[in-house]
Amino acid sequence: MTRGGLILAPLLLAGCATVPQGPVPGLGPAEIVAARGAAFQLSAATLGSMKRVIDADGDVKSQAFAARGLARWGRAMPALFPEVTRGLESRARPELWTGRADFTAKAAAFEAAATRLAEAAQAGDKAAFASQWQAVDASCSACHDLYRAPPPAPAR
Ligand code: HEC
Repeated sequence: MTRGGLILAPLLLAGCATVPQGPVPGLGPAEIVAARGAAFQLSAATLGSMKRVIDADGDVKSQAFAARGLARWGRAMPALFPEVTRGLESRARPELWTGRADFTAKAAAFEAAATRLAEAAQAGDKAAFASQWQAVDASCSACHDLYRAPPPAPAR
């Protein structure tokens, strides 16, 4: 550790005591909402770039890595909606917490669809990749229809 680090460490530790604590020290409810928002945005960007590959009749094998990433996100997703984030400002509908089992099942359906997308990509099967892309897109919407609220009105 550098001398600067030695001086800073106790200050950082002292600072932590004042940060509101979530399930993981230093990772509070607001950070969890921010993390899932970032993952959702990245998943939308991934889906969009895959569509461009499909439309351009491109190499779907190159999309296997990204598709596996979507599947892993589906597996991780339910844990990013813990009780401590219930009622915070976000687009999550309250039904998400009352219908928790169904929400988790929809995340699992998305994960399964993305896993099949990765398999089609790995196999270089363009037709299967294109139809499975539609299935993944539908699994996003199936969850949003029930558990995602409309975006907040733009500030004026
Ligand atoms: C199991 C449910 C579920 C699935 C599956 C799901 N979403 Fe969402 N999505 C949500 C919920 C709930 C929110 C609101 C989260 C929040 O505001 O904290 C959300 C928010 C979003 C947002 C807004 C993020 C932000 O904060 O700006 C985007 C974009 C998004 N999802 C895209 C997708 C895409 C693309 C897929 C499929 C690849 C997908 N989602 C799959 C439930 C889901």
